[in-house]
Amino acid sequence: MTGQSTALVVGASRGLGLALAQEWLERGWRVIATARGRSDTLETLANRFPGSFTIETVDINDAGSVRALRERLSGRRIDVLFVNAGIARNIEASPVSASEADFLDMMLTNAFSPVRAVELLHDLVPPRGTVAIMSSELGSIANATGGWQLYASSKAALNMLMKGYAAKHPDTEHALLLVAPGWVRTEMGGSDAALSVEESIPRVVDMIDANRGRPGLRYLDRFNNPLPW
Ligand SMILES: NC(=O)c1ccc[n+]([C@@H]2O[C@H](COP(=O)([O-])OP(=O)(O)OC[C@H]3O[C@@H](n4cnc5c(N)ncnc54)[C@H](OP(=O)(O)O)[C@@H]3O)[C@@H](O)[C@H]2O)c1
Repeated sequence: MTGQSTALVVGASRGLGLALAQEWLERGWRVIATARGRSDTLETLANRFPGSFTIETVDINDAGSVRALRERLSGRRIDVLFVNAGIARNIEASPVSASEADFLDMMLTNAFSPVRAVELLHDLVPPRGTVAIMSSELGSIANATGGWQLYASSKAALNMLMKGYAAKHPDTEHALLLVAPGWVRTEMGGSDAALSVEESIPRVVDMIDANRGRPGLRYLDRFNNPLPW
């Protein structure tokens, strides 16, 4: 890869997505970061990195808005496409106590929409580029303990949908990564989480870097260790 690399981070208004955008900017990359609405934190980052940083708008649950983003980005080369957007609702609940709407929202936002976004945006990524989605350690069925049961199910569904994507694109040269960042203190992770954002995201970016040019689907933690499906 020659010249300045570009990362597209989808869902970057705050938390881990914002930190991913900032980390790549600090490493000298160009970054396109998306939010659903106006984000003061992204505006601040844009002032720090004029010329390297573009803010875009997309809601991954709205296919039309993802298609419009694809059109606006026509002709751009995206070396790393990272779909980070996700939600957690009813983390203590089981199917008997949860709202059906909350479960369906998580399945849509955490599983269906990220893979649809990859389907709609992957042709911006050159051969040997990287397509990554933020999964979770909780998406592992083999390691399941019952915690965050409904959210974990949506991440397991995400992993399954990416298995399907990989099977349907057997000749892709893209590295396809399902990323488990650890339990991190963000709005979603909460204040009891084990890791600060600074303890997670630089490792995640190192891991993405280590997988550059390595085709195939992998489910990996931030230390580049494979997780059991
Ligand atoms: N924190 C953890 O411990 C942890 C652990 C494992 C995996 N993860 C995963 O990491 C990702 C980021 O989590 P986080 O902790 O940073 O959570 P967060 O602070 O709640 O941030 C979630 C981000 O996703 C965006 N988003 C939500 N729905 C969206 C949609 N429909 N379209 C576009 N963007 C949308 C949000 O944008 P708005 O500002 O517009 O809402 C926000 O930027 C998620 O996929 C999460 O499941 C987190």
